[in-house]
Amino acid sequence: MKKPQIIIVTGTPATGKTTIAKRLAKKQKATYIDVNLVIKKYKLVDKYDKKLKTNIVDVNKLNKVLIKIIKDYQNKKQSIIIDSHLSHYLPKKYVDLCIVTKCSLKKLQQRLNKRKYHQQKIRENMDAEILDVCLLEAILNKHKVKVVTT
Ligand SMILES: Nc1ncnc2c1ncn2[C@@H]1O[C@H](COP(=O)(O)OP(=O)(O)OP(=O)(O)O)[C@@H](O)[C@H]1O
Ligand SMILES: [Mg+2]
Repeated sequence: MKKPQIIIVTGTPATGKTTIAKRLAKKQKATYIDVNLVIKKYKLVDKYDKKLKTNIVDVNKLNKVLIKIIKDYQNKKQSIIIDSHLSHYLPKKYVDLCIVTKCSLKKLQQRLNKRKYHQQKIRENMDAEILDVCLLEAILNKHKVKVVTT
């Protein structure tokens, strides 16, 4: 039997993580893990930015919870796909593959505008994509990285 795979999907908001993660989970018969639900369930929101309508999450606490989830699925010999722009902060030893989603800046701007985010939040997300923040952090964290353009 094939070793269960732990795949994380990271990337700037609206670059297509959820779309890719769900598609891959279906294809590989893996369990899709929605980190937003994990954050809610385990109350991992530290602060709420009212102006930007954004939750600030404690990444150390999130990592602890995600590692527990990973171990549970490894014991069950099941593959999982973890969907979050915070997933690349997981230590490399728990992760087989890190997918980083990217899209053109034009598309990203259209997708973010559609969401009616605060102008500052759109700017911050555009900058994050221009600077490849998720990709660079994933590489710095020594993940095995695969870039997927949506
Ligand atoms: N491969 C694709 N082709 C066309 N449109 C796409 C593709 N992937 C994503 N999109 C569109 O881009 C938007 C954002 O996609 P998605 O919700 O998957 O992004 P996300 O990275 O999960 O965002 P968030 O970080 O907010 O959860 C959606 O409207 C989706 O339909
Ligand atoms: Mg998503």
